Amino acid sequence: MSKDIYILGIESSCDETSISVVKNGREVLSNIVSSQIDIHKLYGGVVPEIASRNHIKNIDYVYKEAIEQAGICPKDLDAIAVTYGSGLMGALIVGVSFAKTLAYILNKPLIAVNHIEGHIAANYITHPELKPPFVSLVVSGGHTALFNVKSYTEKSLIDSTCDDAIGEAFDKVARECGLEYPGGPNVQKQAAIGEANIDFIKKPQSKNLAFSYSGLKTAVINYIHNKTQKKEPYSVPDICASFQKQAVEIVSTRAVDSCKKAGVKSLVLGGGVSANKYLREDIEQRCKKLGINVYYPELKLCGDNGAMIATMGYYMYKEKKGFAGLDLAPNPNIPLQ
Ligand code: KG4
Ligand code: ZN
Repeated sequence: MSKDIYILGIESSCDETSISVVKNGREVLSNIVSSQIDIHKLYGGVVPEIASRNHIKNIDYVYKEAIEQAGICPKDLDAIAVTYGSGLMGALIVGVSFAKTLAYILNKPLIAVNHIEGHIAANYITHPELKPPFVSLVVSGGHTALFNVKSYTEKSLIDSTCDDAIGEAFDKVARECGLEYPGGPNVQKQAAIGEANIDFIKKPQSKNLAFSYSGLKTAVINYIHNKTQKKEPYSVPDICASFQKQAVEIVSTRAVDSCKKAGVKSLVLGGGVSANKYLREDIEQRCKKLGINVYYPELKLCGDNGAMIATMGYYMYKEKKGFAGLDLAPNPNIPLQ
């Protein structure tokens, strides 16, 4: 029998400080997530400088708890995997510096993980039978992109938004409606009691163009401003239901089309917005008719977490990819490819 592999995964790209130990890529021994949501809520969104300061404050005890809960001795780890991008520069620096220090003092390999690939890898934890190839849709606060995932460590970009990310649009619409950050879950709650009866987008987006969220977001903001100026009442639940339906339609139609074009029968979702109930149901309904299986991570693995980074790190370790030296620098904008 081959030796068990233990990977420590570190994530600090935005407002979650998270460290996890994962055994053999799929068994989570610990996954500690320290969220700063309550702090950033006060400002209506993530403040990069405050995020970095809180990562510094928290990362030590998150590490200690991750190691303790996993019941492992640090010297028994096989590698240290860390998100090196994309994300907020100051926030990434904290995780990367911590990872480099650990790799140095423990004399372990350091693996540089792309945050987007981590979101896709979260599915390997929830679905032990899942294997590439598949099409993946990553929908988060920073990304909206479709990939052909050819193997555990190879992917190619099919399409991505040319402006805002879907999560960013959820957050902006929420703010305009007076809902708290993070907007996505609050828009979902309001949408559940509203009617999707407002047409913010008059024409469906052309399949030949890159998809876009800025137009839809602006249409919602203009609608609210218009109503406010005219002192007319408007319904937040109806706005949320209409926005959510139209936002989801943009990604779900393209995701399904991409599966058809690639001749692939598995569609894998990832990222914070993949927690959205309406999005899951809409995509499942479309895929069912075509015999495409839909996979998404369990709710606690949709948002940013160290376990998804450890899992991605495991496959990179096995294939000897992404090994980095102590000169590893964070990259806030890794090109999508
Ligand atoms: O993946 P994530 O935690 O961080 C980034 O990598 O960006 O995604 C955060 C995004 C936020 O925009 C948040 O509003 C959105 O995911 N989100 C949701 C839901 N839960 C989180 N959007 C729609 N519906 C949800 N239930
Ligand atoms: Zn993320």
